[in-house]
Amino acid sequence: MNDIDILKLYFSGSELDKAVEKYKNGIPAAYIIGEWEFFGDRYYIDENCLIPRCDTERVVECLLANLPENACFADLCTGSGCIAISTLKRKPYSKSYAVDISEKALDVAKRNAKLNGVENRIEFICSDVFQTNFGDRRFDVIVSNPPYIPTKDLEKLDVYVKTEPISALDGGDDGMDFYRHIVSKFKNNLSANGKFIFEIGFDQEEQIKKVALENGFECTVKKDYSGNPRVALLQ
Ligand SMILES: C[S@@+](CC[C@H](N)C(=O)[O-])C[C@H]1O[C@@H](n2cnc3c(N)ncnc32)[C@H](O)[C@@H]1O
Repeated sequence: MNDIDILKLYFSGSELDKAVEKYKNGIPAAYIIGEWEFFGDRYYIDENCLIPRCDTERVVECLLANLPENACFADLCTGSGCIAISTLKRKPYSKSYAVDISEKALDVAKRNAKLNGVENRIEFICSDVFQTNFGDRRFDVIVSNPPYIPTKDLEKLDVYVKTEPISALDGGDDGMDFYRHIVSKFKNNLSANGKFIFEIGFDQEEQIKKVALENGFECTVKKDYSGNPRVALLQ
């Protein structure tokens, strides 16, 4: 189903005409509708957060496969909260800490936690991950879909992607700033046998393996629905 077909499910008559006009002017369907589906669940969405992508569902699959039943995990750069929330729904004895630098994105994530009935098992922290300090807290998994587009490539992005928050996309010179920091800073916050799980760009497999090796981790990379490298598991 394409985006116009999706708009037809939500609008009719003159409302549909207005919605299609907005879409043709470069506004993504999710922002026009105000909600989006992720991992079979409904999420409230607005222009303060990245629209959840279906490739990110592969991150959730990997997370579900690697968490114990009563896990404690951290979701860094949580945005709409889609990774943490969809995981908590399927791990009813688990809890999560969800971090984002944007207050407004966290408002969206809090709304989504309520919408999906997990608000009592998720703690939201408004913080810059480059400043975050978890002290001696330990996590079974630290998961993140951080900004990972190299700064020089931002200009080339599709018109629809460019309407999403730039702070959700810019991963620094080579797109790897967040991974390098998260792995080196937070490896001591993993429990024994703890793991990192990252969404990565389709061309970042070699770079994430290098970051893993430099920090004493083995790294395996899984592919997305299009066959591109997409999910890195560091253990
Ligand atoms: C690629 S989006 C991912 C959102 C969501 N996890 C997902 O998978 O759809 C990255 C998120 O990182 C947040 N972010 C950007 N810089 C950050 C920083 N320095 N510290 C914490 N969060 C940051 C943005 O606000 C955005 O919500």
